[in-house]
Amino acid sequence: MSSPEPALVVRNISKTFAGGKALDSVSFEVGRGSIHALLGANGSGKSTLVKSLAGVQPADSGGFVTVGAETTSIESLTPAWARKHGLRFVHQNPGIFSDMTVADNMRMGVGFPNRFGSVSRAALNKQVTGVLEQFEVEVLPTAIMGDLRVADQTMVAIARALQRDEGEREISALVLDEPTASLPEEEVEILLAAIKRAARSGVGIIYISHRLEEVRSISDALTVLRDGREIITRSAEGITERELIAYIVGQPLSQMGAQRVSKAERGHVVAQMDGVWAGPLKDVSFDVRAGEILGIAGLLGSGRSELLKTFFGSQAVARGRVVIAGEEVELSRPIEAMNRGVALVPENRDVDASFSDLSVRENLSAATVSRFSRFGWIRGAYESAEARHSMTDFSIKAHSDSALMSSLSGGNRQKVILARWMRRHPKLLLLDEPTQGVDIGARADAYQIIRRAVDDGAATILVSSDLEELAEMSDRVLILSNGRITAEVTGDGLNRHHLTELVFMAREELK
Ligand SMILES: Nc1ncnc2c1ncn2[C@@H]1O[C@H](COP(=O)(O)OP(=O)(O)OP(=O)(O)O)[C@@H](O)[C@H]1O
Ligand SMILES: [Mg+2]
Repeated sequence: MSSPEPALVVRNISKTFAGGKALDSVSFEVGRGSIHALLGANGSGKSTLVKSLAGVQPADSGGFVTVGAETTSIESLTPAWARKHGLRFVHQNPGIFSDMTVADNMRMGVGFPNRFGSVSRAALNKQVTGVLEQFEVEVLPTAIMGDLRVADQTMVAIARALQRDEGEREISALVLDEPTASLPEEEVEILLAAIKRAARSGVGIIYISHRLEEVRSISDALTVLRDGREIITRSAEGITERELIAYIVGQPLSQMGAQRVSKAERGHVVAQMDGVWAGPLKDVSFDVRAGEILGIAGLLGSGRSELLKTFFGSQAVARGRVVIAGEEVELSRPIEAMNRGVALVPENRDVDASFSDLSVRENLSAATVSRFSRFGWIRGAYESAEARHSMTDFSIKAHSDSALMSSLSGGNRQKVILARWMRRHPKLLLLDEPTQGVDIGARADAYQIIRRAVDDGAATILVSSDLEELAEMSDRVLILSNGRITAEVTGDGLNRHHLTELVFMAREELK
């Protein structure tokens, strides 16, 4: 569908880090009004390419970028050049300030008119309303960002990227680095519609995502990277998911999911809630057994994450009984839960869980330090060997175990956090969106690793917006709606279609 005149041409972009080549002479063009998907496994170079185009991380010399009639060599591409030529970016994990208002968040964008050093609140709100309306984002500028739905937060981030100062030229290309990674399934459509609208107005769009179904539905063309090399650039028309996977992974995936354990292998009750009221949770009762994966399905705000946090000592309980390993507990801090063999892989990993200035090795052992420290110091060689073991197990891509966490790709950081908790051999494993942003190949590995922990007897509670994943991984799924359990699904009912129906039915009943 791309028109003859490209919005953006990328030629021979390379980037070398101390650990090796992250990009190797990548070239493609994005047509005006075309949605061009940029695909590849975790660590294949997608975000690195985005950062080079934005001028925030200099690429190696030798490459060129053309916008309209103007070309620049990649090494002299600055953020100012990009902005001036109408290139706009929403980076992976965009800077969203959840306790500030929408208007203040918008103002954090580059180049908001602020000529006199400050702007009146009324003027700011008015201006922001204008921008939001233009992109059909239905939120108030005075709303607190953290109160918005994730889709709306992402839309604000996109509107922020697309706002234009007086005298600035038209936007030529918008680059979106995994805008839907943290988006619940039901909100993805809203965002995709907004992206299509932007494309229809003539903007060329580079779209990064690990959700292949979504990629197939939205893109006109695509480029696949593998280990920094361009594997293919082609039209997206008629491409099958199987073909996409073959391009991305380099080989067909033998088995995507994991085998469900038969009911007979379920062991004793490891954890239990009995009439629990906690935060949004209302009168919740259920148990989870050794060797079982209990899935939790529900919309955003249903209380999914709070349910996990209640077992982890980070959500206060108002009423009811929480039982872990046969003992009623009153947890007030995560360390108390950890001492009882509970592990939580939280949803918001970059904020909650990773230490970006520390090495992969240190991040891996953050939850297990006592095993490595004797008399106060950490046994370095042992720690290092264990870290390398985890890196192989989880196929974590980093140049060594001493690489800084901040040098890892987004998906690889997530794998480090997952690995960190699995190494504790938890009795109760709490997983909040464990494969968000994890590529299709590594996802299969992660499933196997989770499955292994479960076979070793861990009781697992899995929260996921990916209902396909939930149906495939879980032995049993509870539907949570507005803090209440509204249904339990087992056996043949465990398919994506049925779960989707139940989740949405529960929502309709609330209305
Ligand atoms: N600052 C850095 N220092 C060293 N290596 C880096 C740095 N930034 C990125 N890399 C490496 O470059 C490679 C590509 O990373 P990049 O973030 O571009 O991957 P990605 O395709 O965006 O992956 P994901 O899907 O996980 O977001 C990775 O191997 C990563 O470890
Ligand atoms: Mg990335």
